[in-house]
Amino acid sequence: MRTYSHNAPLKAALGKFRRSGKRIAFVPTMGNLHEGHLDLVRKARDLCDIVVVSIFVNPLQFGPDEDLDAYPRTMAADKEKLFKEGVQVLYAPEVGEIYPEGMAGQSIVHVPQLGDELCGSDRPGHFDGVTTVVSKLFNIVQPDVAVFGEKDFQQLSIVRKMVADLCMPIEIVGVRTSRDEDGLARSSRNGYLSLEHRRIAPVLHRTLTDCRDAIACGFDNFLQLESHARMHLIEAGFEPDYFEIRDARTLQAVNDATEEIAILAAARLGATRLIDNIRLSLNPISDWGMLAGGN
Ligand code: PAF
Repeated sequence: MRTYSHNAPLKAALGKFRRSGKRIAFVPTMGNLHEGHLDLVRKARDLCDIVVVSIFVNPLQFGPDEDLDAYPRTMAADKEKLFKEGVQVLYAPEVGEIYPEGMAGQSIVHVPQLGDELCGSDRPGHFDGVTTVVSKLFNIVQPDVAVFGEKDFQQLSIVRKMVADLCMPIEIVGVRTSRDEDGLARSSRNGYLSLEHRRIAPVLHRTLTDCRDAIACGFDNFLQLESHARMHLIEAGFEPDYFEIRDARTLQAVNDATEEIAILAAARLGATRLIDNIRLSLNPISDWGMLAGGN
């Protein structure tokens, strides 16, 4: 595995692969890699000849009171994991390589509507930071395919929209959420949880599956389901930011054209903000598959 921290040698190396007809898959990460990230890497490996992983804790997507400084940085362990997975190229730039003129005057990529609500309204500017850095990374790596986790379902939807709107010639592939045995979605931020909060954390996933099962059984009063779920989370010890039943394609309210429902939640346990989601196809043929293990 070759590690690059500067754009020019990375681009030269990737150019050689491209000229010899190799297809490049890209997995952008912020490091502190867990099984969920490694699932993305494995998917990338299945799809292309060359796998490029980036590790960059992007300051532009953190709010002023968020955990940028505390965000776990575990480069040596991450490198070992990527090496074992057969990754050929690691790109690990410093902040100055990505934002050579600082972040104040940086051009911003903004995806309206999709990026302005749910996590976008709780974390103002967050998705602008994500889409801006992902655009930069796409331009640097120029992958054929880029792989993202479905755990960050809103992020995945926003990246798909950005790529379509800006005619970026990149296929975006989503990978199913990786979970601990008790259902908790794997996340670098799970490491912040106290033992007591770790015990409570799987309630988030259980509340999502209960809601999905109620809808699958025909219960269609979504406002009631959402408020019941929020109450349930509060009783368990969470402070919910949102619990919303939406159209999985548009992330807007469910309507007659909805083919798939996404139930999305963000909730705090102490200072740790957890997000998760689950989906339910309204197409009877694929319902069984979704209920049997969808996300
Ligand atoms: O999902 C993440 O880890 C980050 O938001 C990403 C896509 C690497 C951009 O910094």
